Amino acid sequence: MDSLDPVSSCLFKYKRINFLVKDKLRPADLEALQHFEIHPTDIFLITYPKSGTVWMQQILAQIMDAAHPDWAEDATNRSIVPWLEGRTIDNPFKERPDPRIFRSHLPPNMLPLGVKDKQIKVVYVWRNPKDVLVSFYHFAHSWVLLDAPQSFEDFFQQFLDGDVYMGSWFDHVKDYQKARDQLNIHFVQYENMLKDFRGEVVKLCAFLGKDLTDEVIDHVVETSTFKSMKTNPKANYKDLVETDHYKKETMRKGKAGDWRNFFTVAQNEHFDNVFKEKMGNLPLTCIWEIKE
Ligand code: A3P
Repeated sequence: MDSLDPVSSCLFKYKRINFLVKDKLRPADLEALQHFEIHPTDIFLITYPKSGTVWMQQILAQIMDAAHPDWAEDATNRSIVPWLEGRTIDNPFKERPDPRIFRSHLPPNMLPLGVKDKQIKVVYVWRNPKDVLVSFYHFAHSWVLLDAPQSFEDFFQQFLDGDVYMGSWFDHVKDYQKARDQLNIHFVQYENMLKDFRGEVVKLCAFLGKDLTDEVIDHVVETSTFKSMKTNPKANYKDLVETDHYKKETMRKGKAGDWRNFFTVAQNEHFDNVFKEKMGNLPLTCIWEIKE
């Protein structure tokens, strides 16, 4: 693995974060990204993996659609909202008209410096970590850049230890909470979108300064439901299955509380203890499930 600091056969560590050995992104690229030129109208979508990135990508693409007559009719959300640190699929450096939208999984200290200096708009989506863990477990069986976990038990422990792609969920969420006064950041809870989708879209539009009509907001909501995205090739990433980047589709269940189908009672108790210990008294209220 050359001079990389290995975590496993598919991951290396750089500044507490685990990156992909099989991707082309290397520490020098991460350093260079700090100087990526930020435009004042840029929007950043930031998530820990499996927290609703693709969902918010679709929402932002719909909200910003009218501002972008340049977007081709068949452009995928991935090309519209490129992944800043991705090197295998997207090209984040392609010229794009303002206002640009990027997505990233990077922690605050690795973001381009202009994100803070220019106080550009950052949307941070977070999700209860038990469901993130379960979603991640399935994704690790799908994404060819990751090693499929030996067992759920193994992956459970790796997640708690932060030995997974992008490192610790706990650190990611804590770091963004701590950075809330330095960044121009809007927090969105995945489960709140499940509970009151329209309400969350309205709040998001207010943050983005987009004064959309009720009709357009309805359209954003209708085109961004799980059901509607699942059949939309611009939104569902199915092309990555067809091109062998993913082994399974990523629009899996889209629910809150699926962890109950995977955690044992003992695992749940252990998780709760680790959560308490790691999150301390941060003012965070997870929504662990939504009864249907
Ligand atoms: P599950 O695996 O629990 O189904 P990310 O985009 O950050 O990788 O997150 C993927 C998770 O978001 C998956 O969760 C996926 O199903 C869910 N998701 C994607 N689009 C969604 C939508 N429109 N509504 C609810 N969940 C959605």
